[in-house]
Amino acid sequence: MTLRSEESYIARRRFLCGMIGGGSAALGAGAAVPLAAYVGNLRTLPPPPFIELSKAECTLDPGTSKMMMYGAIPMLLLNPREAPGALRIFVATCTHLNCTVGYQEAKNRFFCACHEGVFDTTGRVIAGPPPAPLRQFHSRWNDGKLRVALEKENLETAS
Ligand code: FES
Repeated sequence: MTLRSEESYIARRRFLCGMIGGGSAALGAGAAVPLAAYVGNLRTLPPPPFIELSKAECTLDPGTSKMMMYGAIPMLLLNPREAPGALRIFVATCTHLNCTVGYQEAKNRFFCACHEGVFDTTGRVIAGPPPAPLRQFHSRWNDGKLRVALEKENLETAS
């Protein structure tokens, strides 16, 4: 291969790589827009009036928690170490800027990693910037299922 044809080969190769890279970026951006819209729609869907959980879904060892979904809302079940069996159910969304909170077993508290918000096991703010406690769900056992609702009236009217 001569020097001139080698330069031409390299130029063609760069051009093709650029075309492939640009095409991939365009495809990625094209897929990202509808995906973001879909996720956005999921977040704006109205929550269900209530959900029902089986006994197995609600069975937790004392001092442990479980993350579930209430429609598109993250929901945290806690069997409190200090009151075993008295299940507490929270909206697992931080009241500061809506990050998802998690339960820290070793410290027996809820923690938001975004800005180090800390809540006790009743949902009260004990440190950090959150302006309000964690919202709690209402619940009631009915025919062997635990009915869980954001609004108490939805729980009461459920038959
Ligand atoms: Fe949780 Fe800021 S979003 S502390």
